[in-house]
Amino acid sequence: MPAGISETARYAIENPSSIREIMSLVADYERNPEKYPRPLVYLGGGWPQDPPPKPLVDAMKELWEDEREIRLSARYPPTKGDPDFLDAVVEYEEVIFGRRMPRDEIISGLGSTDLAGGLFLATLDRGSEVIMARPCYLNYQRQLLVETMLGVKMKYWDVIKDGRFEPNVDELQELITPDTRMLILVTPGNPDGQVFSDEVISAVSDLAEEKGIWVLLDVAYRMFHYSGVPSYYSRPRREREIWLASMSKELRAPGWRLAYLYADPELIRAVETVQQARTLATTRIPQRAFVRMMSKEGVRDWLRRYMLEETPRIYGEIARMTTDLMSQIEGIRVLPPQGGFYVFFNVEFVEPSSRRFVQGLLNEWQVALAPGVDFGMEGWVRLSFAPAVEEPEKIREGVERISQYVAGLRTS
Ligand SMILES: Cc1ncc(COP(=O)(O)O)c(C=O)c1O
Repeated sequence: MPAGISETARYAIENPSSIREIMSLVADYERNPEKYPRPLVYLGGGWPQDPPPKPLVDAMKELWEDEREIRLSARYPPTKGDPDFLDAVVEYEEVIFGRRMPRDEIISGLGSTDLAGGLFLATLDRGSEVIMARPCYLNYQRQLLVETMLGVKMKYWDVIKDGRFEPNVDELQELITPDTRMLILVTPGNPDGQVFSDEVISAVSDLAEEKGIWVLLDVAYRMFHYSGVPSYYSRPRREREIWLASMSKELRAPGWRLAYLYADPELIRAVETVQQARTLATTRIPQRAFVRMMSKEGVRDWLRRYMLEETPRIYGEIARMTTDLMSQIEGIRVLPPQGGFYVFFNVEFVEPSSRRFVQGLLNEWQVALAPGVDFGMEGWVRLSFAPAVEEPEKIREGVERISQYVAGLRTS
């Protein structure tokens, strides 16, 4: 490595995420398919196959036909977000969840990854501790270390025990010390698809208020619920809660990079100041498309139907189908998802290393999954059905190959 590479970058390079390694193998399959015995079934990444909703696509197209919009979107937006975008977010939350979100408690960002970065810098000091529910979204651990130049300590609240989702708030309490600044929860979860109940979120918020720690609630998958929607999406924010919403999944637009944070107004001011130094502002084009979508006639009813009926129905059917098929594989223990894009299952009975399981499956059967070890749970594997939600036959084919692979491992 050349001189002049930081300790932080060295850490990141020396500890690659295995998903990235799998992605480069996947890229090779895509470039040179003739080298491999069968077409790849890609159930690795967490991006939806279906397109962004029609009103949003129409709005984006109209934007490019409108000279005034082109000029406006080419200017620097305010760091917090285009003022019309902040108003549109207030309306969107009200339309879908009936939530009243004060405008001065919102800031936009280039996806939730960007906002999480600004938030970490606005809340953490060298030596601060962050607690994450485990299993946890894999990027948080790396991002926390990178953004704080390896300065924070991470602790884990294990919420899955003996293959069941059982978050115990007393155990969380035992992890908190005077250095604890933040707790991170993802609901519905990535990689596990589990949903924190109203009671648990309420008990966590009580605890956070008592101890003066922040609770980051990452709700990137909040429109994907398969067994009832918790009521916390509709109630006002509690004092120490920070809500992080992303357009990547719910509006099927991860490439447009748009998200927002809903938090204490003083904290929003701190994040805004940090973001002025970090990214300056969020790209205006997707913000303007969102504004235009919200101004369309009939869009309120359309969005309610799309988000609260169609999305959970379509994704729910695929989630159930995938869970049923996976559960039929002898020996595999599946955690049925309550929401999100993923089916998480235990493979320890044939292979204790999730990385080896995933690599073997890719090499021998050309199915791409993600190893649980990257999410803090060894012996588990994540299947993402979102990249094939419009092609269930691909999921069936993928599960059939997994079944053959497992059968082979059992006899070897
Ligand atoms: C839980 C969770 N949070 C955040 C992200 C990143 O989202 P964004 O595209 O908004 O940066 C992901 C992406 O998969 C995710 O699963």
